[in-house]
Amino acid sequence: MSSSSSQVVQSTIDSAFKISAYAPAHTCALAQLVHQLPPELAKEALSGGQKIICDFKYQTLKKATKNFNQSNLLGRGGFGPVYLGKLEDGRAVAVKKLSAEKSSQGESEFLAEVNMITSIQHKNLVRLLGCCSDGDQRLLVYEHMKNGSLEKIIYGTDGFFLSWNIRFQIILGIGRGLQYLHEDAHIRIVHRDIKASNILLDEKFQPRIGDFGLARFFPEDQAYLSTKFAGTLGYTAPEYAIRGELSEKADIYSFGVLVLEIISCRQNTDLCLPSEMQYLPEYAWKLYERSMLHDLIDSRLRNDDAVEKDVLQVIQVAFLCLQPEADSRPPMSEIVAMLTCKVELGARVPTRPAFLSRKPRNFDNISWDSISEPCPSPLKSDSLSFPQHAK
Ligand SMILES: Nc1ncnc2c1ncn2[C@@H]1O[C@H](COP(=O)(O)OP(=O)(O)OP(=O)(O)O)[C@@H](O)[C@H]1O
Ligand SMILES: [Mg+2]
Repeated sequence: MSSSSSQVVQSTIDSAFKISAYAPAHTCALAQLVHQLPPELAKEALSGGQKIICDFKYQTLKKATKNFNQSNLLGRGGFGPVYLGKLEDGRAVAVKKLSAEKSSQGESEFLAEVNMITSIQHKNLVRLLGCCSDGDQRLLVYEHMKNGSLEKIIYGTDGFFLSWNIRFQIILGIGRGLQYLHEDAHIRIVHRDIKASNILLDEKFQPRIGDFGLARFFPEDQAYLSTKFAGTLGYTAPEYAIRGELSEKADIYSFGVLVLEIISCRQNTDLCLPSEMQYLPEYAWKLYERSMLHDLIDSRLRNDDAVEKDVLQVIQVAFLCLQPEADSRPPMSEIVAMLTCKVELGARVPTRPAFLSRKPRNFDNISWDSISEPCPSPLKSDSLSFPQHAK
């Protein structure tokens, strides 16, 4: 490439990155600008002179996953199936086959988005190793996380037990990963779908947030103020579910729900339970009002006073994340500081979290009052201090 065309490419990239930094959730400006370049310049623009994208051949991924064999299927989500693959160099990878009918992106837009996402790296984010774009096939290649998703571990049927230290490590790691996405990365990313299945665990049970930036591959994700809802019910902040307002604060709400799930080892919505217990944030708040928060904690974590005291502190942080007004939810950096005792929780007493209120159903056999008798809530006493371990 001549030096003048190189300059054109570089200034295109620079301006595109500037635009996307200010309009983070927009369809990638880089892709749009690169689209206007001749193909040979576009290719170089996408790599920005330095190769970030690892371009996998379809045949390589087909071989690695034994022809996308059912036995290699790790799971199937809203974007398509995910397969375990083994590359020739021995690396284990997770290959996500994006469903063609949902992603209507052109190849250059797709590559530009992949390029952008591969540039976002943090120890609490799953690494996107590269992609494959072949005809209408679009595949994403991630590092494989040995211990699978948090969902399988905390609600799985095999009775797997995570100690409080590990659970706290997971909560803190997710917080740090989100802080990076929201505040520290060169482009601001709102995840939009923080939930247990999108938290993956490595061999040491360190958490990594998966699927960040994935919404960028799909046409719905076009504006800061989204009119279409694209999260997971039960984890969704009221302003996003009702008015389509999407910001970091929606992720913070979802984080609050996830923290309660990790502590209680139950799903945020369970319609098999008595009506008062069906929605986790609502149930947690009712327990708090009745000074019975102890009942929320996974029974296997109870009966250790030191652990319980720590858990109650973390529940208080979760309640702050669940505040009805987005502005009242602390930013992720503050939440991480609270969890690591760098900031005193002090006077930050949470108010009633946001949850859909329902009329009580008269036909339920078990009413709230019959669950158990109230006792003083440790959260209401001022004597609690923050967890002093697992930092
Ligand atoms: N990098 C990975 N390493 C190991 N397992 C993975 C990896 N990525 C995904 N999985 C597994 O594949 C499953 C499906 O993932 P996927 O992200 O497609 O769906 P989901 O998280 O259940 O739903 P959603 O589409 O809303 O994200 C996950 O639950 C997880 O068990
Ligand atoms: Mg997922």
